[in-house]
Parts: sequence; structure tokens; C-alpha cells
Amino acid sequence: MDMLVVEGGRPLRGTVTVSGSKNAALPILAATLAVEGPVHLEGVPDLVDVHTLTTLLSALGATATTRTPGRWDVRVGDESPCLADYELVRRMRAGVCVLGPLLARRGRACVSLPGGCNIGHRPIDLHLKGLRALGARIRIDRGYVFAEADRLTGAEIDLTGPQGSTVTGTANVLVAACLARGTTTLHGAAREPEIVDLGHFLNAAGARIRGLGTSRLVIEGVAELHGVSYRIIPDRIEAATLLVAAAITQGELRIGNTRREHLSAVLQTLHEIGVAVESDGIDGLHVAAAQELRSTEITASPYPGVPTDVQAQFTALLSLATGRSVVTDTVFPDRFLHIPELCRMGAHIRREPGRGLITGVRQLSGACVMASDLRASAALLLAALAAKGESVIRRIYHLDRGYERLENKLNAVGAVIRRVNDAPEHLPDSLRVLGTMPPLTEDDAPPIPPPKFLAREDAAAKESAP
Ligand code: UD1
Repeated sequence: MDMLVVEGGRPLRGTVTVSGSKNAALPILAATLAVEGPVHLEGVPDLVDVHTLTTLLSALGATATTRTPGRWDVRVGDESPCLADYELVRRMRAGVCVLGPLLARRGRACVSLPGGCNIGHRPIDLHLKGLRALGARIRIDRGYVFAEADRLTGAEIDLTGPQGSTVTGTANVLVAACLARGTTTLHGAAREPEIVDLGHFLNAAGARIRGLGTSRLVIEGVAELHGVSYRIIPDRIEAATLLVAAAITQGELRIGNTRREHLSAVLQTLHEIGVAVESDGIDGLHVAAAQELRSTEITASPYPGVPTDVQAQFTALLSLATGRSVVTDTVFPDRFLHIPELCRMGAHIRREPGRGLITGVRQLSGACVMASDLRASAALLLAALAAKGESVIRRIYHLDRGYERLENKLNAVGAVIRRVNDAPEHLPDSLRVLGTMPPLTEDDAPPIPPPKFLAREDAAAKESAP
């Protein structure tokens, strides 16, 4: 297993390019199982999750090959397999995206339930509800979903769940509805750009989907989908992570291959924090260091809200902002395992149900921390880039699942990050405490905590009270 050793405190400067979107590439690759004829994809990021999914496609009778970076050719040769095994699906939740395509094209599917996940409970009841509404017979047995249908039939389906829409649930039902007889109307569909991209891919392959980008999708079923060439959109979560990387290191970056329209909530939040981002008029964004990082309140919610996938990165940034911030996650209210690790680096964050209450500190200090999930590892890396001294981030395999060569990209713009084998002898000397006391000064006198955390309005009301 690898770990990252990061030398903090260096402003990032230069140009960096965003890769293709992971969360668009995965459901599109899965959807190739519903297509007759060759599919040629461009802009596919080189990620562990992509390799896991293409291995799954091979197990399902498709040949997925790549000769040039970012380009994949997929062709289904054998339509008889229908088993998506636990060993592959447990490694990556998006494996469940083969359910809809298999059912629609082959009439049966046997897909492992993805299992537990560090970001909270992630059921697939809405996926199953949608597929049942299209006429599938479904049973859960031995940890697998067994689904069967002679021919799916269009229906009116509401996919709204307790936390709003479901992204991969919409993907599964959308692909299935494309090959169903008649018209399907999906209410409460996810509006994420990745679902729009999947819809554009399917339409290019002959599907008839209207309403993409809205929560009401109307799908007229077609007899078959045909081969197609398609380019995947840039990864908005990687773009957001790089924007925060520039801001947290007081650096200045030009970030290429972005879609500004997919980043509105992220840019608005950066603006509130005091970070200026300008478009370069083509596909790039220019981000410059803020004079001062200001506190704010953020609520992660389904698109077009602030993505839950950048909640952890913003939590890292706000731990260095002046004043108090509140970060709430309505999509995955338990997605806060990065908080105790950020606190190990000197952040002042209190975790409450569904939110983190942050009191900004002047500086973070390098420490040895553990990544719990993909975006938490990005947040810890960002914190380490800003921290004083060296940091070690362990369990970095999470990062490789979702970011294409992130440490190489960051090193090219001034970061100093080394990937080493996770072994005690590779721990930097600076992090070996060995009972030595650092010289403590006046600055180490702890601030007296307020009696209770006050929301900004409450605090303002209290201050103005006679
Ligand atoms: C996708 C993304 C993930 C992102 C998430 C939310 C991919 C591969 N992954 O995950 O990066 O963090 O969207 O934007 O695209 N829910 C139910 N029942 C269901 C399905 C979901 O109650 O059947 C709930 C979930 O527990 C969660 C919320 O709905 O609270 C959103 O989950 P969902 O959009 O389905 O997440 P994923 O598609 O798994």
C-alpha cells in the first residue's frame, strides 16, 4: 500500500488541466452493455475505478480496449453473461450501473449489492423501484439483486428519495427506459451534468430522451441502440478540487478543460470565501489567492447545489478562514470522517449530526493522517499542501480511485508530494516525535471557547443587543 509524503507551505503556481469526468465515464461505460455495435469513447480518465469497471465489462462479455490515453473502444461480443460479481462491485459502487443496461438488453441481471461505504448508508431501493415500475421482477438473495424481464414497458416513475434525487439510480432507470416499449416519464430525476452527459451519449446512440438537465425526463423507448463515438465531459469535482488547492495554498492557477456552467455553486462559494475566479474565455479558469479567506455557510445538496463531493475540500479550506463557518451535507449527512483527521492537523472543527462547525485557525501543521474515502483523501491532501511542515497521508488508494495522477499534476505546479510504500521507515524524521517537546510560546495558549457555537445571525443579533 502507498502513502503520500507532502511538504506543505508552497503556493501552487502555473497551469493544470482537468481530466474527463469519473462520474460521467462510469455510467457511460456501463451503458455500453445496452448498445449494439462498437462504442468509441474519448476523455475517459485513467483511474482505478475505470479499470475496475472495464474488468467488469469483460466479465459481462464486452471487449474494452485502450491504446491511446483517454480513449476506449468497447464492443459487446457475448450477450449471455449476466453476473456482476461481489468481488468487483464491492470495490466500486458504480458497478451497480450495469443493472439497468443488462436488464434492458439481455432481459436478466444478477448484480451484487455494493455493500457498505465510509460516506454513509447508500441503499439502492430507488434503483429497484424504478426498474420494477418498468416491469422487472426483482429479488434480493445472498447479497445479490436478481432481476428479470421479458420486455420492459414504459411507465410514470417518481425517483425522489428522502435525500432528493439519486444519481446512479437515475442512470440505471434511464438506460433501461431507453429500450422499454412505449414512453417513460421519470419524475425527481437527477439533474447532475454527469446524467446529462449519459443522456447525450444515449441520444447519440439512437435513444430518444427529452428534458435532460431537468428533474422530469421523458423517454420514448427504441428497439435498439447503435454504436457511437462520444467525448466525456471534464470532471467538475477535479476542477473544484484544483480551485481549492490554489486558494488554500495562497497560489495562482490556470485550470484548463473546465465547464464554468457546471461549477456555478462552487464558484459562488469561493466568491463568498473571498477567492476570485475568472474565465479565460475558452475553457479555462484563472484562480488567484485571496487577501483573506472569509468564513461562510455551505450546504451540500443535489445539483445545482454545492456538490457533496466537494464538501470535504471546502471543509479543509474553511478551517483556515477567519471566523466561524458551518458546513452541512444534506446528501450524505454522515460524510464527515475527514473532520477528526483535519483536527489532527490543527483544525478546530466540531462535528454535529449532518454538519461540521468550523472555527478558522491561522495555520495547520503537518501530521500523519488517514484517508477514509475518495474526497476525504483529497481534502487531507489540500490541507497538507497548506500546512506548516511535512504530512503523511495513508490509505491513499482512495485517491487513485477517482483522481487521475493528482499528485503529478500538483507537483508540476509547485507542490512537493512523494508517493512511497506505507512502511514505518518511510515516515519523515520531522514527524517522529519521540518524546521531544516543541518550544511552546504565547501563541500556544488555547483560545477560550465560546459557551455555545452561534450561527452567524445569532452572533450578530447578540452583538447588536443592548
Ligand atoms: C453518486 C456519485 C457520488 C456522489 C453522489 C451524490 C457516481 C458514481 N457517484 O453516487 O460521487 O457523491 O452521487 O452526488 O456517480 N439514496 C436512496 N436510495 C437509493 C439511492 C440513493 O435513499 O436507491 C440516497 C443516498 O443514500 C443518498 C442520496 O440518495 O443519501 C444520493 O445518493 P445517490 O445520488 O444515489 O449517490 P450515488 O449515485 O451512489
